Amino acid sequence: MSRLTLIPYPKRVDFKDGRLDCTRVDIVGSACFAARDFADYITQLGYSVGDGVKINYSVNSALALDKEGYIIDIGEGSIDISASDDAGIRYAFCSLRQLMHNYQGVLPRCVITDEPYLKFRGMLLDAGRYFYPKRDVLKLIDLCYYHKLNVLHWHLTEDQGWRIRIDKYPLLTDKGSRRSHTNFGIRPHGGYYTKEDAREIIEYANMRGIEVIPEIDLPGHTQAALACYPYLGCFDRKLKVATHWGVKHDVICAGKESSYQFVFDVLSEIIELFGGNTRYIHIGGDEVFRHRWSLCPHCRETMEREGLKDEQELQAYFMSRVCDWVVDKGYTPIVWNGLDCDKRVHEKAVWHYWSDEHGGSDDLVRKFAGESGGYLNSNSAHVYIDFPYGRTSLKKSYAFNPLPEGLPEDKLVGAVLTLWTEYIPNFKTACVRLLPRACALSETMWLKGDKDYKEFESRLMPMVRYLKREGFKSVPLRVANPCALRGALQKAWFNRRVMHWQGLHNLIDDANVERKYKKKR
Ligand code: ACM
Ligand code: ZN
Repeated sequence: MSRLTLIPYPKRVDFKDGRLDCTRVDIVGSACFAARDFADYITQLGYSVGDGVKINYSVNSALALDKEGYIIDIGEGSIDISASDDAGIRYAFCSLRQLMHNYQGVLPRCVITDEPYLKFRGMLLDAGRYFYPKRDVLKLIDLCYYHKLNVLHWHLTEDQGWRIRIDKYPLLTDKGSRRSHTNFGIRPHGGYYTKEDAREIIEYANMRGIEVIPEIDLPGHTQAALACYPYLGCFDRKLKVATHWGVKHDVICAGKESSYQFVFDVLSEIIELFGGNTRYIHIGGDEVFRHRWSLCPHCRETMEREGLKDEQELQAYFMSRVCDWVVDKGYTPIVWNGLDCDKRVHEKAVWHYWSDEHGGSDDLVRKFAGESGGYLNSNSAHVYIDFPYGRTSLKKSYAFNPLPEGLPEDKLVGAVLTLWTEYIPNFKTACVRLLPRACALSETMWLKGDKDYKEFESRLMPMVRYLKREGFKSVPLRVANPCALRGALQKAWFNRRVMHWQGLHNLIDDANVERKYKKKR
């Protein structure tokens, strides 16, 4: 036997002779969540708990393993787990859970010595484009747990919907959480999380060792907020919550003080809600169109006052001011890279890289990652699992290397796989996109070094069956790695959709704004 059927694969496995029949186990001191969950799970599989092979577990902080590390010794008559901390215990049970399924309760005897490569292993859920009800979010948290991911990056606001209740600005959810129709249909779509929902979700995630990081995307991707409070925009335009996907040109005005007041009020409530569970607050910063700013008297006045030479610098000023505020509150801001508009990045912020537009320009990545407080990698070429398999195959996801060449390892905070939902209206479609790519990506985050795709594939089918039993259906391999023709067709179809009429709409809308406001400059 050369490899254990386990995903993500552990750092080291030393096989011994024989197998241990674990169809009857006795978990010694089953007090922690992971042990209870394990007991429930194997009971469902038809095995018995209470009398049998002893499973002993304890934390041993003297263990020569990093945080979250663990050792499982599957011996002759018992299973002994030692871990560097509670998280290690959790991941040990997480591994055992999968092994009990994959080996039908009779485990190969071995010693597993394991610890993660990245300390921050995330999954992004875009609940802005489509609202995912609480039960779906909880399911996605389960999925994170099975893959040993420890961060849910919860993208809560978008042009198409504001999803989190903010008491001081009730319209954000009363009105801004609903769009009149969607990419796919003529029916309205909406929904939002109450603070109680969010608390429940955070607690559920924290039990599984998952930190929930909220994202309030600023100052772009805010059309839903502008539809509720037009004064947040440069020209107080009356807008609707966006119906279709596409980057919108109306963004929060970076010149008015009332914009900053709004942002700080919102973030205060966000910190109150999430701050006990996370060190990070994600404040967006991606895809900010500066057309309105270039015409706006408030923005121009701020530029003059602050000595900013163009709107790019105004954007840097906006992000920097919000970063300062977040840092002042004791949290670390995370900011997306902003396409062509990165000007400077706050030295305490984590720089969340997503666009492969910088491809071929690793220098730029190294520069910004180097200047920031850390680097979070969501390189869209590999981790954007909303893309069709023709664009990002399973193989390509598995080829993801979180550390760009030349970047010092101590700058690497972690990586996040992203479930953007422009074209993912429900949980079923989410699974089609996620699986099996999430399996591949979780391994790239957990296990350091070169990986052999073929070998990974040989371990995949048991994992797929394991997940299916939990209600997560994966696509078959021939879909996940499509042939060249099928891949090219999917890519063409996807790109065509991306280039839809939104571009034309923006062009006409920009011209209208210019006609109306240019003369007032
Ligand atoms: C992004 O995909 N705009 C972060
Ligand atoms: Zn403005």
